Amino acid sequence: MTENTALPRIFSGIQPSGVPTLGNYLGALRNWVRLQEGHACIFCVVDLHAITVWQEPRALAAQTREMAASLIACGIDPERHILFHQSAVRAHAQLAWIFNCVARLGWLNRMTQFKDKAGKDREAASAGLYVYPNLMAADILAYHATRVPVGDDQKQHLELANDIAQKFNHDYGVDFFPAIEPLIMGPAARVMSLRDGTKKMSKSDPSEQSRINLTDDNDAIALKIRRAKTDPAPLPSEPVGLEGRPEARNLVGIYAALADLPTAAVLAEHGGKGFGAFKEALAALVIAHLAPIAAETRRLLADPGAIEAVLRAGASRAAAIADPIVAEAERLVGFLARA
Ligand code: AMP
Ligand code: TRP
Repeated sequence: MTENTALPRIFSGIQPSGVPTLGNYLGALRNWVRLQEGHACIFCVVDLHAITVWQEPRALAAQTREMAASLIACGIDPERHILFHQSAVRAHAQLAWIFNCVARLGWLNRMTQFKDKAGKDREAASAGLYVYPNLMAADILAYHATRVPVGDDQKQHLELANDIAQKFNHDYGVDFFPAIEPLIMGPAARVMSLRDGTKKMSKSDPSEQSRINLTDDNDAIALKIRRAKTDPAPLPSEPVGLEGRPEARNLVGIYAALADLPTAAVLAEHGGKGFGAFKEALAALVIAHLAPIAAETRRLLADPGAIEAVLRAGASRAAAIADPIVAEAERLVGFLARA
């Protein structure tokens, strides 16, 4: 298959952390789905990044399939665009090695995500976790991708990727790697825990009640929303009334995001109601959106071989783009030709 090269090329990656939550959907996946219009997209399940912290091997394999199935069920089109798992395209690790030798320790030392993830016992963190941003730069630049949709927590990594691209170009006296433009998916779309409106909805929260998963059935969704934490006051009629009420703000925010309406419009309709009635309406809306996605995810996961075949087909198309770019980078560095 020849790839469409007339459209701007997007690259983005997501960790194989299993079935996504409603937070991942509204904060990231739905944007990916929308970006497919007008771009040539390459979407990657980043299993190489995942093993920077310990992963039980069978769980990693299962979660890679689950993430791929969820992406397809949400509307990622693996025919018109490219969807694959990172480890299947060798170019990522090959270019990452070169970038390990371009990036400076001082640059990596500034990365706040490493500090957060390594925690207090930094000596015990893997070397991979430390050079994680170099691999991320390689992911993008191996395709000469210029637009990268990410959450705001990844912005610093993209700045580092631009620094790496510039230093490579400067050191080798070329204009080879393009500048990357981050498409920051803002905190506007941040979904909070159903148990605590001040914490992000997350797969790592010990409480299953805190999140909605994209494979939850309708009863589970309705129950989680009915039990979601709220305060005793009725819903305000205007957005200012949500100040200091994180749980109310979160539920209204989810409603607004799914209905594609401004918060003010949601409150104009539902303001003054108690949470009982609003939660009924919200549950119906969430179910209307997620039930087809959950059904499709389950259908896809019933045939793991078919999902793997989709990922492998994506990987060979990805490699066809990345291999010549990485081969050229190697030539610029002074490596003799591979084959
Ligand atoms: P994670 O699973 O936390 O690595 O997140 C994967 C993607 O989903 C990132 O782009 C995050 O910014 C986004 N994301 C994760 N949790 C949420 C949330 N609660 N609300 C909005 N976006 C989220
Ligand atoms: N680090 C990103 C995250 O945790 C995932 C990722 C890996 C990525 N490689 C990428 C995102 C390249 C954008 C581009 O969310």
